[in-house]
Amino acid sequence: MLNESAAQLIEPPEGSTVVGTGKGGVGKSTVAAHLAGEAAEAGYRTLLICVTGQDDDDLGIKRFGRGTHPAGPSVLDGQGLYRALHDRTPLQPIREVRPNLDVVPGGPMVGEVSQLLMLRMMQEGPGVVLSLARALAPIAALYDRVVFDSAPESDSLEQLVLASAKHLIVPTRSDDSSILGMERISRNFKVVKRQVNPHLQMAGAFLYGSNRSATLMHAAVRDDIRRTLGEGTPILDTIVGYRELPARNARKKGLLFGEYAELLPTSATRYDVKAGRATDADVVPDTIIPLAKEMRELNQEILEHCRKAA
Ligand SMILES: Nc1ncnc2c1ncn2[C@@H]1O[C@H](COP(=O)(O)OP(=O)(O)O)[C@@H](O)[C@H]1O
Ligand SMILES: [Mg+2]
Repeated sequence: MLNESAAQLIEPPEGSTVVGTGKGGVGKSTVAAHLAGEAAEAGYRTLLICVTGQDDDDLGIKRFGRGTHPAGPSVLDGQGLYRALHDRTPLQPIREVRPNLDVVPGGPMVGEVSQLLMLRMMQEGPGVVLSLARALAPIAALYDRVVFDSAPESDSLEQLVLASAKHLIVPTRSDDSSILGMERISRNFKVVKRQVNPHLQMAGAFLYGSNRSATLMHAAVRDDIRRTLGEGTPILDTIVGYRELPARNARKKGLLFGEYAELLPTSATRYDVKAGRATDADVVPDTIIPLAKEMRELNQEILEHCRKAA
């Protein structure tokens, strides 16, 4: 059994990174979309793979029809991901969602992936955890960067992405349940690294969506992170502030923070709203500027840490 699965080992592509932790609502999808989007903007051919049942559509694929869909049945809502795994065929991304950026979208069908893996695990053994790595391998050479958004829903989905990437980057918030969520990814990280993906590296962890001046609290969270993920875990310095309004508005419009910030100079103002010339939704909050800047800094730091880990 062990020899059989060892023979199936697949080296993940260079520049492949999972954004993951076992807790929802900490910023995984937001960070994954920005990490991918900004790499693409910088000229790297990038693939974002969303292995999560909740499709937040940060890039406006579904709501605003961005990108060119592959021929054949829909790949939206996790259907493309599910089919590739089910039929053992290569992933078929939606192309050019932005210049240089292709996406395999998540959504409800990802929930079915978990069950498929369980079933196959019984018949085929632990090598099943490499299913996604196998579906990615035939198209991996098309990309300089691959970013995985991951699901907090189940161990099997976490293991599936960890088996397909070289780096793990862990966002967290400061609350206890986010810290507990890191325990799960930590467990899965160790199991996957030991059994199927020796190339996997912990690139670092970071506090996301926090009050940037709460430095005492940040120090306490750093201790929590080290206790949970291991003393040697690199911890990033950049803290993206908690800025609910611009984060929420940008996602609603299917725009990355930097893209949304570009609308600020031509945005309607509060006066326009009062005068009935515009609605609240037309007003771009000026806090998008620091939010976009902090996210850019975070992405640069993530890339540096991935390079170091390599
Ligand atoms: N910097 C931020 N400040 C406040 N809210 C944010 C920020 N970034 C993202 N959000 C919001 O937080 C929520 C959870 O983020 P999300 O990326 O979906 O987390 P996860 O993928 O871990 O569940 C979303 O509603 C998102 O719009
Ligand atoms: Mg998410």
